[in-house]
Amino acid sequence: MGRKIPHSFIQELLSRVDIVDIVSHYLSLKQVGRNFTALCPFHPEKTPSFVVSPEKQIFKCFGCGIGGNAITFVEKYENLSFVEAVKRVAELAGIEIPTSFTEDDKVAVIEEAGFKAAKYFHSQLSQVSQYIEQRGISPKEAERFLIGFAPRGYSRKLNIKAEIAKELGLINERGKEFFAERLIIPIFSHSGKVIAFAGRTLKSDSSLPKYVNSPESSIFKKNSTLYGFYQSRETILKEKKAIIVEGYFDVISLHQIGVKNAVAPMGTSLTENHAKIIKRYTESPILMFDGDSAGRKATIRSAGLFLQRGVEPLVVQLPESEDPDSMAKENPSELRKLILSPLTFIDWSIQTVKLLSDQEKPAVLREIAQAIAPLKALNPFIYKRYVSKLSAEFGIDEHWIRLNTGALSRLREETAENPVPPHEKAFLRALLEKRFQLPLEVSPNIFVSDEVSRVYSIIRNTEFQDPTVLQTEFPELSGFISEVLFSDFSEEEMKMAVCRVLCKELERRLKKLHDLKEKKELKNLIFSLRRGNLNALACALSRTTN
Ligand code: UTP
Ligand code: MN
Repeated sequence: MGRKIPHSFIQELLSRVDIVDIVSHYLSLKQVGRNFTALCPFHPEKTPSFVVSPEKQIFKCFGCGIGGNAITFVEKYENLSFVEAVKRVAELAGIEIPTSFTEDDKVAVIEEAGFKAAKYFHSQLSQVSQYIEQRGISPKEAERFLIGFAPRGYSRKLNIKAEIAKELGLINERGKEFFAERLIIPIFSHSGKVIAFAGRTLKSDSSLPKYVNSPESSIFKKNSTLYGFYQSRETILKEKKAIIVEGYFDVISLHQIGVKNAVAPMGTSLTENHAKIIKRYTESPILMFDGDSAGRKATIRSAGLFLQRGVEPLVVQLPESEDPDSMAKENPSELRKLILSPLTFIDWSIQTVKLLSDQEKPAVLREIAQAIAPLKALNPFIYKRYVSKLSAEFGIDEHWIRLNTGALSRLREETAENPVPPHEKAFLRALLEKRFQLPLEVSPNIFVSDEVSRVYSIIRNTEFQDPTVLQTEFPELSGFISEVLFSDFSEEEMKMAVCRVLCKELERRLKKLHDLKEKKELKNLIFSLRRGNLNALACALSRTTN
């Protein structure tokens, strides 16, 4: 997407910004004579050897040797690409970059249309003021996140070219309005452009699907976007802490109670790429998922993504029936207290496993062992501490971990010990072969098989690819994918498997509903799905989305 930025512009930018202002945005500088100093952000030290010269417009650390200009500083500090750093410096200094340098014209047009749509939806918010009030969303937060409402007929009102509206997911291939009568949550890119939308249902007569999201597009990639990042960025930079939650409203409610560093993935589980982005900004990401067993699974899996990068995550455990949103509403002071004293991943793991029955323990311990295994090479100190704690509590030693985590043999071992449930396999095959359009996103945490869950997440998070392409990109799963594709299921069996997985997802959602009428409708739907009636679901979906 990014084109080359002309050298002349970079020179002009550097002549117009003051490196002291730029660095001050990140560090507190102290004037010493003609220069400014600070503790170096690039290596640990107790006395300042990091110096900024306003005359020369450069910085240098006499401890570790790093040096450069304003752009280099931002590039290194935020771990950005050169082009990203140029954009960021211009943004900090309030200098416009001619879009022709950095973006395709088409991108600019889509982003402009996205913003226009978001503003329009926001202007319609008063139509659902009751819902907003009842959810306890303050006008300030509604404004900050540009929450809105999409009245039926919006596509004509908006006056956006069909091609662009499709790219934003506002209308589908056939021109149907995708978000009509839904609460609108615009998705901002990390630099603050509206690139997609999520829509929450407001209806109680039919409860499905709760959220719809714009599909991926040329400018919207789920695995490189974090919801709330744009609004959280400054706080994350300042505090060097980021809290990862599951849902849009978790982010919004946390901001509302003053916790302004919360971000969430895009309606799917956290990906490796998300972890990579978060790691640029913090060495101790804080995981705060729902208090139930799905939340526990998500915590271990997400922790694994950070541990793979040598980063030790922290965890905030919520009470069993709460999510951050509900708790921010009911007991904000208790929630703030919990956030101030997160547990390290290993202490959280021990506390969590202790509460499980003896029957549940081994499987969860194995998940934990898998998550921490990569640390051995990356961060042996933390690894040793983890192993000795696990060994003291549960008698698990390094030998056990090795046995349970050997990279490739692991998958085989697990499949032998822990066969993949046939319906999950059939479901995945149906999905890989595109036999059924999956009418709603299911949580990757509902699968018993880790491999099914991983392949499902990959399919959901990347643009859908040919199964063989997946095999080259994820070699560790290639054997498993072949096994699934070679499996012997009839069309009918695959259909029933899809129904069964969807049932499980609906049952998960049922637990979150309070409205009796909505509950009843969802139960009816589950009932018909159990008998293989996929149409019932399709009908309910078209009722809510058209
Ligand atoms: P939850 O089902 O936990 O909903 O989904 P929630 O965030 O608590 O939503 P509220 O509070 O009832 O409004 C967690 C996240 O999963 C994604 C959304 O990102 C949601 O915030 N999701 C959920 C979808 O993308 N689609 C769905 O149908 C459901
Ligand atoms: Mn919620």
